[in-house]
Amino acid sequence: MAKVIKPLLEWDEVIADIEAAATELSWSRTNLRSCFSPSYQVFGYFPSTTSKPVAYLILHQQLSDEWTVMNIAVHPQFQRQGIGAQLIEHVCQLAQRQLATIWLEVRESNQVAFRLYERVGFIQCGYRKDYYPTAAGGREAAIVMCWKSPSD
Ligand SMILES: CC(C)(COP(=O)(O)OP(=O)(O)OC[C@H]1O[C@@H](n2cnc3c(N)ncnc32)[C@H](O)[C@@H]1OP(=O)(O)O)[C@@H](O)C(=O)NCCC(=O)NCCS
Repeated sequence: MAKVIKPLLEWDEVIADIEAAATELSWSRTNLRSCFSPSYQVFGYFPSTTSKPVAYLILHQQLSDEWTVMNIAVHPQFQRQGIGAQLIEHVCQLAQRQLATIWLEVRESNQVAFRLYERVGFIQCGYRKDYYPTAAGGREAAIVMCWKSPSD
């Protein structure tokens, strides 16, 4: 079976496992589960060697042409192989068909994610000071980024 990105229609515990392995301040299982509901799409990345996803992306389609990437995580064993880029490019291709704008927020310190979004064509369009809590008990800013369909 070739590697594939496909919508995850039902909750799978592996999503929480990927999130916990990939992130320091992880989303709770309850929050992740709540995204398996109308107006959300969750995409999984399945490498050819596994029947379980090793990465996921949560998309909120609040309007037909206004979407938000709520979260993305790649299991650490599979990072730096271009999987994150493929997931983001996948939703950009879907957005292009519907002339949708995609929004997201990223921690100011998360340069890997920021660079990835920039490479795919997102631009910075906002800055929210002290938006996120940090593991050390402080706060850090969110960079707001957006991607617009080239023909938009
Ligand atoms: C951010 C995240 C999703 C990126 O996923 P990823 O699959 O590692 O992303 P990519 O492989 O597409 O790109 C990441 C880096 O790997 C590099 N890379 C990609 N393919 C590579 C390869 N074959 N060999 C070496 N490096 C490679 C990219 O150049 C990029 O490096 P750079 O940003 O330092 O220039 C992942 O690090 C992650 O899950 N982080 C924790 C959760 C998180 O921060 N989510 C974002 C919330 S806003």
